[in-house]
Amino acid sequence: MQERIRWGILGTGSIARKFAADLALLPDAELAAVGSRSAESAETFGAEFHIPRRHPTYEALVADPAVDAVYVANTNQAHRDSTLLCLEHGKAVLCEKPFALNAREAETMVACAKRRGVFLMEAMWTRYFPLSARMIELLRDGAIGEIRQIDASFCFGGAPKPDGRLMNPQLGGGSLLDVGVYPVAWARMILDESPAVVRAVQTPSGTGVDAQAAILFRYATGALARLTCAVTVKTRNDATVYGSKGLLRMPEPFWRPETLILERDGQEELFSDPKNGHGYFHEAREVMRCLRAGQFESPAWPLATTLAVMQTLDRIRAEMA
Ligand SMILES: NC(=O)c1ccc[n+]([C@@H]2O[C@H](COP(=O)([O-])OP(=O)(O)OC[C@H]3O[C@@H](n4cnc5c(N)ncnc54)[C@H](OP(=O)(O)O)[C@@H]3O)[C@@H](O)[C@H]2O)c1
Repeated sequence: MQERIRWGILGTGSIARKFAADLALLPDAELAAVGSRSAESAETFGAEFHIPRRHPTYEALVADPAVDAVYVANTNQAHRDSTLLCLEHGKAVLCEKPFALNAREAETMVACAKRRGVFLMEAMWTRYFPLSARMIELLRDGAIGEIRQIDASFCFGGAPKPDGRLMNPQLGGGSLLDVGVYPVAWARMILDESPAVVRAVQTPSGTGVDAQAAILFRYATGALARLTCAVTVKTRNDATVYGSKGLLRMPEPFWRPETLILERDGQEELFSDPKNGHGYFHEAREVMRCLRAGQFESPAWPLATTLAVMQTLDRIRAEMA
């Protein structure tokens, strides 16, 4: 077997737990270390996932010579500094979405990775599912003709805590950064270009962030996208791309696709990929493939694409202010 890639996890929240569980599905991955802002959290997390090295600070984690790659899984406002910390210590980084709070932060991160010659990738896990690759292939092969419209929605409900990370501007909260990034990234996967026109409206949460948003794009080709996101209401979260000859549809959860439906000529063709683990092992596997191949970014979701999506998010935010 190939030498195992040794992972460190930075942050001990809910997504870090799922990622840790998924790493166990990859025999060529080793969960070597965890780092937290608190020794107690690092201990608890480390014990739960049988992680041998448990660090009481992020600084101690990135200084650990037994770590090759770090998964940055803390709150949004901390992604830039945590990623820079890792890169400056020569650690490859997989950084949770949203990659940063804005394009400027993202540019700093990408520039640092390039300057240091260290691998960096946004954890846009949706891109690494087999059905996302299948969809892109079908679109490239002209399966639905010329792309005319895109619809995608990621809206979940409940009553988020007013001081929790979703509602707190200090922690980079709001629907656009939390879930809006998925429909925006999905549109980018389909039409690999930035929209020519961006329109957006939002509903303020009362805590200083957007509770929900509706977004419209027009592309140079004339294609349109209708996207929505919310953290206070659950909608039907389908995603569909409509072309001149048919459509491709991903039922919820399109961000973790299990089904892809091609409709054309009055017929339906179904592609499926049954759920396995939490689905985060695909992106982890891509990081390891890139590291072994000596690549500094993932060709499937290059850093230029991450930056373009961040710039589009900035344009949306400016529109809906
Ligand atoms: N890809 C996905 O499907 C997915 C799903 C959910 C969330 N996410 C993303 O993952 C990240 C974490 O989300 P989560 O749901 O896991 O959040 P969470 O459960 O609140 O955990 C976040 C962790 O960040 C650290 N943290 C908390 N406050 C911080 C602060 N002020 N400064 C620095 N670090 C802080 C804490 O770790 P320590 O105390 O150990 O340092 C905490 O456990 C977010 O960026 C979110 O957008 C992605």
